[in-house]
Amino acid sequence: MHFELTEEQRMIQSMARDFAEREVAPKARELDRTGRWPNELVKRMGELGLMGLVVPEEYGGSGADTVSYALAMEEISRACASTGVIMSVQNSLVCEPLLRFGNEEQKRRFLVPLARGEKLGCFGLTEPASGSDAAHMATIAEDRGEHFILNGAKNWITNGPHADLIIVFAAFDPSLGAKGTVALIVERGTPGFTQAPPDEKMGIHAAHSCTVFFDNVKVPRENMLGEKGMGFKIAMITLDGGRIGIAAQAIGIARAAFEKALEYAKVRKAFGEVIANKQAIQFMLADMATELDAARLLTLRAAWMKDKGMRHTRESSMAKLFASEAATRITHKAIQIHGGYGYSTEYDVERHYRDARITEIYEGTSEIQRLVIATQTLKS
Ligand code: CAA
Repeated sequence: MHFELTEEQRMIQSMARDFAEREVAPKARELDRTGRWPNELVKRMGELGLMGLVVPEEYGGSGADTVSYALAMEEISRACASTGVIMSVQNSLVCEPLLRFGNEEQKRRFLVPLARGEKLGCFGLTEPASGSDAAHMATIAEDRGEHFILNGAKNWITNGPHADLIIVFAAFDPSLGAKGTVALIVERGTPGFTQAPPDEKMGIHAAHSCTVFFDNVKVPRENMLGEKGMGFKIAMITLDGGRIGIAAQAIGIARAAFEKALEYAKVRKAFGEVIANKQAIQFMLADMATELDAARLLTLRAAWMKDKGMRHTRESSMAKLFASEAATRITHKAIQIHGGYGYSTEYDVERHYRDARITEIYEGTSEIQRLVIATQTLKS
C-alpha cells in the first residue's frame, strides 16, 4: 500500500494551494459578506485547468486523476468553500457525466468549452417536492420523436443563476419509476427555460443557487445524454463521483478551521499560560487532527478506487458522510477554542462553521449516505 502522492498529484496540489492562498483566500471574507459571485476566480480556475481536471486534454481538460481532483478541491475549499463548490459542480456534476455518457458530438460541443472553463454548467436533479427521493420526479420530458418537451422545476441548483447549460433529469414515463427517466442537456437562452433569483442561504454565500423552470421547453433529441431510460442511473453514477468532491470540500473547510484554532491556541493566554498548554484544548485539537486525517484517508481511497475503475458507491458515501459530519464537529470545536472571538464575524471560524453545514446536506444528506452504505453493505 502506497501513501505517497505521485509527482503529478503533488504538482496539482501545490498549484491549487498557491492559487488558493494568493488569489482566493484574500477575497473569502468579502465574498461571504457580500454574496458576490466570484466571476474573476471562476475565470482563473478555467485558465488554470481546474474546471475540467479529470477530462482528457483532447476534450479541453487537464487529464488529471480523481486523487488530484480531491487534493485540489481541498485546497480551494480551505480558502473559500463557495469557490470550492462552484468548481466541484463543474467538474463532478457536469464535465464527468458528459465525459462518461456523452457522444463524440456532445463532447466536442459541450464538454470542451466547459472543461476549458469558457462555459459554466449546472446539474438539475432536485425538485421542490423531491430531494432525497430523487427517482420520483415531477419534471416531465414528453418524447415527441425529434425532440422532447420539458415541463417542471428544479431547485437548489448550484451555479444555476450563471450557468450556460444544465444537465436536467426528467421522467418521460413516471409509471416506470427510475427506468422512465432521461437526462437532457438544455442550453441557456432556450425558450421557456428561466431562472429565479439566487437563493438566500446560511453559508456558501458566493456560490449562487436558484430554482430553474421549464415551460414547454423544446429540447432536440441530440441533446439527450446516454440512453432513454438511463436518466436516474446517470444521476446516481455522477453522484458517486460528486460525493468525493463534496467530501474534499468538507475537509478543506475543516482544515481551515483547525489551522486557525491551532494558531489561536498557541498565542491566546488564560490563567497565566497559552491555552495550547491546557489538556482540555489539547484533547480538542487531537480529535480535530484525527478526524481530519480519517476523512482524508476515506476520501482518497474513494478517489483511488474511481481512478482504478472500481465501483465506489459505498466508499464515496462513506467519505462524504464522515468528512461532512467531521467538518461540522471540527468547525464547532474551532469556535469553542476561540471562545467569544469565535462567535464574532471578525474571525473566520464562524464562516467555516456555516459553510461546513451544507456538506451534510447537498449531493445527498447524511441520512441518504447511510442508506447507500447500508444497502451496499447488505448486498456484499
Ligand atoms: N450506480 C449505478 N446504478 C445505481 C446507483 C449507483 N450509484 N444507485 C442506484 N442505481 C440504480 C439501481 O441499481 C437501480 O437499477 P436497477 O433497477 O436496474 O437495479 C436503479 O438505479 C434504482 O435504484 P434504487 O432502487 O436504489 O433507487 P431509489 O429510488 O431507492 O433511490 C437513493 C436511491 C440512494 C435514495 C437515491 O435516490 C439518492 O441518492 N437520493 C439522493 C439524491 C441526491 O443526492 N441529490 C443531490 C442533488 S445534487 C446536488 O445537491 C448538487 C448541488 O447543488 C451541489
